[in-house]
Amino acid sequence: MAQIFKHEELPIPIHDSLDPVYGDSSQLEEAQLRFHTLKSKFQQVFGHAPQLFARSPGRVNLIGEHIDYEGYSVLPMAIRQDTIVAIRRHDEVEAEKVLKIANVNDKYQICTYPADPNQEIDLKNHKWGHYFICGYKGFYEYAKSKGVNFGAPVGLDVLVDGTVPAGSGLSSSAALVCASTIAIMAAFDVNFPKKEVAQLTCDCERHIGTQSGGMDQAISVMAKTGFAELIDFNPIRATDVRLPDGGTFVVAHSLAESQKAVTAAINYNNRVVECRLASILLGINLGMKPQEAISKAKTLSDVEGLCISFASTRGSSDPALAVKEYLKEEPYTTTEIEKILGESLPSIFSTSPSSLNVLNAAKHFKLYQRASHVYSEAKRVHAFKEAVSSNLSDEDKLKNLGDLMNGSHYSCSVLYECSCPELEELVNICRENGALGARLTGAGWGGCAVALVKDSIVPEFILNLKERFYQSRIDRGVINNNDLGLYIFASKPSSGAAIFKL
Ligand code: GLA
Repeated sequence: MAQIFKHEELPIPIHDSLDPVYGDSSQLEEAQLRFHTLKSKFQQVFGHAPQLFARSPGRVNLIGEHIDYEGYSVLPMAIRQDTIVAIRRHDEVEAEKVLKIANVNDKYQICTYPADPNQEIDLKNHKWGHYFICGYKGFYEYAKSKGVNFGAPVGLDVLVDGTVPAGSGLSSSAALVCASTIAIMAAFDVNFPKKEVAQLTCDCERHIGTQSGGMDQAISVMAKTGFAELIDFNPIRATDVRLPDGGTFVVAHSLAESQKAVTAAINYNNRVVECRLASILLGINLGMKPQEAISKAKTLSDVEGLCISFASTRGSSDPALAVKEYLKEEPYTTTEIEKILGESLPSIFSTSPSSLNVLNAAKHFKLYQRASHVYSEAKRVHAFKEAVSSNLSDEDKLKNLGDLMNGSHYSCSVLYECSCPELEELVNICRENGALGARLTGAGWGGCAVALVKDSIVPEFILNLKERFYQSRIDRGVINNNDLGLYIFASKPSSGAAIFKL
């Protein structure tokens, strides 16, 4: 009998034409043009044709923000904007052993790196090409862990074309890392299962210095046309979620750039460290010895069981009850935490340079707020999934989803403090113009909002946002009127990563 493989166990699909990914509409024409330009520019820059192409999409997260790195499930969907990487592997006999990474967009200058897969990434000197090197290092590390030897490193010629706007919270970085890794993998004639590619790209993007969870890479690699995905971690798994009819997700950019990697020490990685500290303190309060908590409580999901046991003594199953009982609302100072732990924070985080940067930059730690966000957001993801698969009418389902999105935004904004004035303004305008729900999406601190809007009002909604949010920015020259479609668009769930041998 034929064996039935789960979606995530299949390799990355290889196509010899564009239509399986780009459909047969205007999107296909646009894609044909992009591939044509990539081919001719590749020839022009490198004097050869590319060997193959890999593409990986951006994503919009519908719900489940800042909880993937705490081990909790999230619910994103892929968008049609993607990154395409054209690649050619040099023959062993070719003299130049370098990686040349060029971009069709002249804004991004050509980056050159040695072919050594063990090279360190120069984090102090941030360059766009570093994301390719993440994939390059990740590929070799993974191959090594599987006992595969690709011999002495060779040169690579690479040309990138990305349509996911950078700093938009739509995972332009993961799209680039995933497309790069998959292109390298295919150039070496191997193809790992999707779930392994998702894990390895998640691990390797951390070379850039952010302690990200695996959501962006998982959806970019495993997405399917027509479905959002519930992504579980440890191990990574994707479950198709068919969204109710009658609603559309509109993505709108706040025009504040979210520089996740550059601001990691005060924003993204700071929250990861705060969650770790909250887990340790909860662990201790719920009976662990300090040393045991330090070694075992890495994430809030690690102490969830203890929190639920505590809640059960109060007739509840909500882990947030333990947060209310055992963490204080006022921010903790370093000295206060060190006293409870009996160890200095730099010693606890000594193996993580990016966490040490957080400690250097932090004045205090808001453990109550961060833990409350994580536990409540994890519940909202499941409520979202349940509402979608419930017996409610589509209209009631959409209303439920909208309410959950609003709850998520409130929690991100007030408890997790990852919003910004522009996002607040935009989310309010979305709601005032008929969105059933609206929230920031992705890491936050800038980037995009996502609004759930009834299909029937989408064109009017977009026009109203143009008038109320974008027009003044167009007048001030922040963006060009002709580019508006890049900053606000309706999005349907798109397909995941693919390899093209054309
Ligand atoms: C970024 C990270 C993800 C996730 C989101 C916030 O996009 O890369 O792993 O943590 O932020 O939900």
